[in-house]
Amino acid sequence: MKTKKQIIVIVALASFVLLGVAAVKHPAPNTDRFKNLQVLPTNISEDSLDKIMDGFCASLNVDCKYCHVHDKKADSMIWHTDDKPEKEITRNMMRMTADINEKYFHFNEDVKASEVQAVTCYTCHHGNPMPEKAKGAKK
Ligand code: HEC
Ligand code: HEC
Repeated sequence: MKTKKQIIVIVALASFVLLGVAAVKHPAPNTDRFKNLQVLPTNISEDSLDKIMDGFCASLNVDCKYCHVHDKKADSMIWHTDDKPEKEITRNMMRMTADINEKYFHFNEDVKASEVQAVTCYTCHHGNPMPEKAKGAKK
């Protein structure tokens, strides 16, 4: 006999499948939540992506608008476009940071760019978009 909990899970899974089928008709290449991920896993959860983005903001001491376009007219953010050069620079920084971690810290393991890292953006940036600016800062 199935418990109530199991039934809820089954119903939830069934609706996932239905949503998946509905999404196939959409022109998007996959059923992923985000439209333009080139470095992060395309099936990343919203929660994980949020944490990474918050980490960028804290490491560089900037807000989301530093890398993402703010549509002033609509007063809303446009997340998927690459209009700001800072976003593409950041992709390269992500690749570099992942390379450093994989090559010099986690050389015996399989590590993905999205996982906890020994070297992070903060290691170099220390709350500055340009690391040089930290040179004169108090230790
Ligand atoms: C330092 C730059 C930077 C900052 C600051 C930043 N982001 Fe991002 N964001 C990126 C990059 C780079 C990507 C694309 C990653 C990739 O290609 O895998 C991205 C992707 C995203 C996406 C996915 C969009 C899509 O559909 O493809 C969302 C949503 C997002 N960011 C939200 C935020 C939010 C919310 C904030 C503020 C809390 C924020 N970002 C701050 C660089 C940044
Ligand atoms: C190993 C050190 C190091 C790490 C780690 C690092 N950066 Fe950088 N980053 C730099 C340096 C140095 C520059 C300045 C390059 C230059 O002078 O053009 C820079 C420049 C940038 C810029 C451009 C700033 C500007 O005003 O032009 C962005 C944006 C940036 N980094 C984001 C990030 C993010 C996000 C991460 C984490 C994923 C990261 N960086 C990790 C060293 C690092």
